[in-house]
Amino acid sequence: MSVSKRVNTVISALSLTLSLAITSVAASENVSTASLIQDVEQRQTAFSNIDKQQKQISKALGNSSPDWQQLEVQSAELTAHSASLQTLFVPGSQSGSKAKDKVWDNNIKFKAALANMDNSFIKMDSAIKQQDQYAAKGALKEANKTCRSCHRQYRSR
Ligand code: HEC
Repeated sequence: MSVSKRVNTVISALSLTLSLAITSVAASENVSTASLIQDVEQRQTAFSNIDKQQKQISKALGNSSPDWQQLEVQSAELTAHSASLQTLFVPGSQSGSKAKDKVWDNNIKFKAALANMDNSFIKMDSAIKQQDQYAAKGALKEANKTCRSCHRQYRSR
């Protein structure tokens, strides 16, 4: 092989390596952008479900003899959605979101406010398991107090 041919071979091998590296960087960026968008959708869905389920539970608890079995199922779903929120506010996941910068600038306080809601739902869930209507209503009321105060601070619309 002549020197120039060998140089050409080396150059084409290098450029192939380089283009593969660029492709894989681009691919991983696409994946992370997609997962950030997914985070926004997942937390919005979680919040919408919480909103719907807390209304159903509130209505059922207003009944003089609630359907405890159904309440347990609804409450389990709600607490799962509530718990999922702790991991769904990934830094950088703001595009298409209603969350303010403050969610990440003041993340410790934000997470504490989320935990506040979550703890009340966990309390409600154990009261439902014990068929304690009074305690369940109280815990749900507590959880619902956290919605507006957090939205005022951390949600833009
Ligand atoms: C710790 C703060 C916090 C608490 C507590 C909280 N929210 Fe939110 N909520 C947010 C933020 C931030 C968003 C915006 C999410 C986004 O768009 O990325 C939001 C969005 C929503 C949405 C809109 C979802 C959509 O489809 O865009 C609903 C509905 C909602 N919350 C209901 C509730 C209810 C009901 C409660 C109380 C039981 C509650 N939230 C408690 C912070 C909170």
